Amino acid sequence: MRKLFIAGNWKMNTDAKSASVLALGLAKALDTSIYKAVDVAVCPPFVYLQGVATALAGSKISLGAQNVYFEDNGAFTGETSCAMLKDLCCEYVILGHSERRHVIGETDGLINKKMHKTLASGLKPIFAVGELLAQREANETDKVVKTQIEKGLAGITAEQMKDITIAYEPVWAIGTGKTATSGQAQAVHAFIRQRVASLDGQVAAKLCILYGGSVKANNATELFAMADIDGGLIGGASLVADEFLAICRAGQV
Ligand code: PGA
Repeated sequence: MRKLFIAGNWKMNTDAKSASVLALGLAKALDTSIYKAVDVAVCPPFVYLQGVATALAGSKISLGAQNVYFEDNGAFTGETSCAMLKDLCCEYVILGHSERRHVIGETDGLINKKMHKTLASGLKPIFAVGELLAQREANETDKVVKTQIEKGLAGITAEQMKDITIAYEPVWAIGTGKTATSGQAQAVHAFIRQRVASLDGQVAAKLCILYGGSVKANNATELFAMADIDGGLIGGASLVADEFLAICRAGQV
């Protein structure tokens, strides 16, 4: 049986004080009964990773970054390396998020380079895929997700796949308040697991596939009850301690 995983993606939000206050609030409120059923991580902005790491010290909440670069060091102004993230106790890195694909312009090729570097460095990717509204309306969801998976994971071995979490995030559901129905999400999750099963059945059976896109406390239970949904990547609702905690508790049921 797969354990649920709930990760908060804080995006470009909070400030130094509110980031630490939010992290401390979560660390205090989450107890062993939740951790038995759910693994929890938060992904603050780079500049607050250190403060949040301090606030989380002694708790079981893992730390993740929202991005990374694929080179070790050097003349890459504005970029951050895997070693730097490990220095700050990060365990996870979000790769392929739709805002990086569609706002910043990251390509599948760039995401694949980051994927290889992240895994080689011992960090765990949370690899996001998902279709635009026009692609869903044109019945292209499976095709788009298949391409993102094939290109993003090109050259990745079955052994390495064990460290990867995939997050299905339909772009039309992100930050819009418009959640995919549990049936729509389950169908794509099952498709993703089947794609990975064509590489390795055992890895696919254990693969953690998160749903992301307007997950809230009031829809989390239904989503997490679906056979192939193993938790959530939570944006807006992860910025409100009580809401995020309620989503984590929904995972306990
Ligand atoms: P949302 O964001 O929960 O605010 O829709 C999810 C995400 O982008 O990871």
